[in-house]
Amino acid sequence: MPPSSTELESTLASLQQRIEPELERYLQLSTDCPDRLRESMQYSLMAGGKRLRPALVLIAAEACGAELDAALPAACAIEMVHTYSLIHDDLPAMDDDDLRRGRPTNHRQFDEATAILAGDGLLTYAFEVIATHQQPEAAALRCVRELAAAAGPEGMVGGQMADLQAETETITELSGLEQIHLRKTGRLLRAALRMGAIVGSANDLTLSALSEYGYCLGLAFQITDDLLDITGNQAKMGKAVQKDETHGKATYPGLLGVDASRERAAQLIQRAEELIAPLAVKRDQLELLARFVLERDH
Ligand code: IPE
Ligand code: IPE
Ligand code: MG
Ligand code: MG
Ligand code: MG
Repeated sequence: MPPSSTELESTLASLQQRIEPELERYLQLSTDCPDRLRESMQYSLMAGGKRLRPALVLIAAEACGAELDAALPAACAIEMVHTYSLIHDDLPAMDDDDLRRGRPTNHRQFDEATAILAGDGLLTYAFEVIATHQQPEAAALRCVRELAAAAGPEGMVGGQMADLQAETETITELSGLEQIHLRKTGRLLRAALRMGAIVGSANDLTLSALSEYGYCLGLAFQITDDLLDITGNQAKMGKAVQKDETHGKATYPGLLGVDASRERAAQLIQRAEELIAPLAVKRDQLELLARFVLERDH
């Protein structure tokens, strides 16, 4: 029987309970910085996102046999990088949004310069957190490499560039759109799975299956984000909806229509489930989160 939405929500909620206090703790450790910068970083980081990426780090680590808590530094680091990407994504020079995580966007609450610096602060602090707190050191080094590559020019930042360029250069090929989505969102979700697998000392076969599973989830996640921009509810999403078309964004529903986009997301989640099915790891929570990516309404 497929999991109920309550089951999905309660799984995510119990993972969030491990993540929230740890994010707060890391912010408190970084005390010797201007108050305004810390407030601005805290404002966006502690605004109650879904915490999907850190949740994936934790359950991948646990699935591979580590203690859930062993991956908390890498989990918090990826959430910091993700939050920085949201702060910058919302800036007037990018998507120009006023609402995020149910609150005024960072540049609206503070100012543009502070928002840029809060993003920079979260990005760099993320790597300090892994390098200082992730154990063992060999795993920390590998996690730094994974997160940097996923967030950098070949990953999220490159995807964001392509996303903005696509506002003026119409994308007509599915492969071009898929590349944008894989970079801007897929790479970071994949890195979540890879970091968890690394902390769990996964073998190469498991690492590569979880990695592919992460890519499928990442692409499906951005497709459902595009769909929710059309069909979602602003209060539930905590961000403005119906903006992509006005901004000329390259999206799945824009190219394929709503029904075919839903179908594509469902295929990707099915593929993700198939990829992990043969693995000798604890799979139940990974399966639950894959369903969440498909069925979410926020
Ligand atoms: C929004 O990410 C940006 C995308 C990559 C689509 P989330 O939907 O995970 O945002 P939060 O973290 O829950 O706020
Ligand atoms: C954002 O994609 C991807 C990022 C890397 C932040 P979107 O621009 O569609 O995300 P939302 O809809 O603003 O959350
Ligand atoms: Mg954007
Ligand atoms: Mg945006
Ligand atoms: Mg969007």
